[in-house]
Amino acid sequence: MNRNIVLTGITTTGTPHIGNYVGAIRPAIDASRNPDVLSFYFLADYHALIKCQDPDILSRSTLEVAATWLALGLDTETCIFYRQTDIPEIPELTWILTCMTAKGLMNRAHAYKAAVQENEAIKAKDPDKGITMGLFSYPILMAADILMFKASRIPVGKDQIQHLEMARDIAARFNHLYGTTFVLPEAVTDDKTAVLQGLDGRKMSKSYNNTIPLFIPEKKLRKLIMKIKTNSLPPEAPKDPETCTLFQIFQAFAKPDETNALRQRYAEGIGWGEMKQYLFEYLNDHLKAPRERYADLIEHPQDIEKVLQEGARKAREYSRPFLRQIRQAIGVAALA
Ligand code: TRP
Repeated sequence: MNRNIVLTGITTTGTPHIGNYVGAIRPAIDASRNPDVLSFYFLADYHALIKCQDPDILSRSTLEVAATWLALGLDTETCIFYRQTDIPEIPELTWILTCMTAKGLMNRAHAYKAAVQENEAIKAKDPDKGITMGLFSYPILMAADILMFKASRIPVGKDQIQHLEMARDIAARFNHLYGTTFVLPEAVTDDKTAVLQGLDGRKMSKSYNNTIPLFIPEKKLRKLIMKIKTNSLPPEAPKDPETCTLFQIFQAFAKPDETNALRQRYAEGIGWGEMKQYLFEYLNDHLKAPRERYADLIEHPQDIEKVLQEGARKAREYSRPFLRQIRQAIGVAALA
């Protein structure tokens, strides 16, 4: 098998919103339809455990994220879709890699450094206050996720580029010590994918509490859209589409000719109330069918579980023999 391997992980914290859809889920689902690549997509629930220690929230997020990807049309026949915690080879490889990762490399990880800086800002006695080993060594787990499947291309947000560099470093160290074993992965970031603004005009993000969840009921969707911040120009005044959150969300879903027609309406003057109603109807039309599929999937977690088990079976066809080879390389194979 020499198809290009693309792999990405989805941390299972929180309910997916339209910003996630446009920025990550939709491009990933589109990419998985390319017959020249083999895509691995997984629910990164070991990563979620770093941030979330509430079992109910953790398992609910896993259910919601899996249902979202399936409802939006991920074709699990052509790609490999699995849950990280179903692949025991991953934590095993994580430990092996931990033994060849310089602590100094982890000291430089952004997430860890940011946590230390927060402690310093509040003048905590211990700069490591509240920081777990999970947070500290998170980039090693991520390296194991990637190296386990010999993935060469990793679509990620820009905040993850450093983790990819670390994965390369760790892989290169292993290859140097034990002979070429791992493929050196590369981050793929896409400047063209839209980053949506949220209800308050800042970047749509769970941490700002300004998101529009993908599959909320119709009435709630309308209510949220009505809440999107606009300026106070009167209806007849020409308006700037480029700085407008409503326009930007519309554009992320619409075809170019629809967007151009709306741009014209902005130039002529469109009332905010009318625009909000238009955006609501447009989005609702697009989300109706997947929303129904989503509701149905959430009602039938056993169907999702079946899909994930099949995904794990396929993933382990790669991870099991490769881990055997890795163990051999480091000298922990059977004695006779
Ligand atoms: N850390 C990634 C994020 O927060 C998620 C992730 C975990 C991931 N393992 C991965 C992404 C492996 C790509 C490859 O977005």
